[in-house]
Amino acid sequence: MASTFLRVGIAVSVCASGVAGAYDFLGPDSCQSCHVEAYTAWKASPHARAKDVLSPTQQRDARCLSCHSPNDVDQKQAGVTCESCHGGGQYYSPRYVMKDAELARLAGLVDPTEKACRACHDASSPSLKPFDFAAKLKAMDHWSAERARRKSSSASVTPEKAPVRSFAQWLRHQPPSLVRQTP
Ligand code: HEC
Ligand code: HEC
Ligand code: HEC
Ligand code: HEC
Repeated sequence: MASTFLRVGIAVSVCASGVAGAYDFLGPDSCQSCHVEAYTAWKASPHARAKDVLSPTQQRDARCLSCHSPNDVDQKQAGVTCESCHGGGQYYSPRYVMKDAELARLAGLVDPTEKACRACHDASSPSLKPFDFAAKLKAMDHWSAERARRKSSSASVTPEKAPVRSFAQWLRHQPPSLVRQTP
């Protein structure tokens, strides 16, 4: 009950501050500690190197950066990073938020869609073949290994804390601007 009330408050402040992507980025290294498999797969992928394929002049060209390093200017992040797709991790990355799928999304975690891919994989990208979502999604798999690990270790995982307490704990670490709007 109390938790639901607080969630509504968070939802209001999230909406008031604009799109999810507007939150500060913590950088891929910050995700690595908890998402080892995802990080390793991403690091070896063209997305991680997307800025490196540009020449020094092109690396200063906003027309190229918009797809090859979309958060270069606003967040000082090179390449297409975790947070370019999943949203800035400022509020969702603490463990007790991440463990609560619903809360994580209220705090800015984004589920990337086909439409999001097509923002960059469009007719103006160099590929001669049309973008095949299912095939390209498979080609950038960075979740199967982690899901398999979670499944096999679920029995040994320690019981989670009560959600209300976890949420209150999280709330205490939030800046006044976010907390103020919660009644
Ligand atoms: C302190 C550890 C921690 C950090 C740091 C962290 N995560 Fe998570 N993340 C988790 C846990 C735990 C889950 C829940 C996994 C589960 O369902 O068992 C999760 C879930 C996710 C999910 C799946 C959510 C869902 O419900 O389907 C995504 C996507 C994700 N994290 C992305 C990120 C990104 C991107 C970053 C870096 C900005 C990040 N995480 C940082 C621990 C963390
Ligand atoms: C609309 C998004 C978009 C823009 C803008 C864009 N690119 Fe790309 N670029 C892509 C995508 C997506 C790929 C890879 C997939 C493909 O081949 O379609 C790519 C691939 C490349 C590659 C090949 C990399 C490799 O690994 O072989 C180079 C080089 C490149 N782009 C340079 C540029 C330069 C230079 C600019 C600016 C003048 C630019 N791109 C602007 C989306 C874009
Ligand atoms: C180009 C966009 C993109 C980038 C970059 C990206 N992801 Fe993802 N991520 C996705 C998509 C799309 C899915 C969902 C795949 C599915 O379920 O079909 C996903 C799934 C995940 C999942 C699994 C969620 C679950 O339900 O089990 C985790 C964890 C995750 N990503 C973390 C990361 C981390 C950490 C990074 C950086 C090291 C990263 N992602 C980079 C698009 C991206
Ligand atoms: C912010 C722009 C951006 C977004 C969003 C994005 N990509 Fe990419 N992607 C790129 C660029 C740029 C490259 C080329 C990198 C290089 O080769 O240097 C690329 C390369 C790839 C590649 C490897 C080359 C190829 O075409 O086979 C795959 C696979 C891929 N992207 C899949 C996806 C999928 C699936 C999504 C959506 C979940 C997605 N991308 C979202 C910019 C983006």
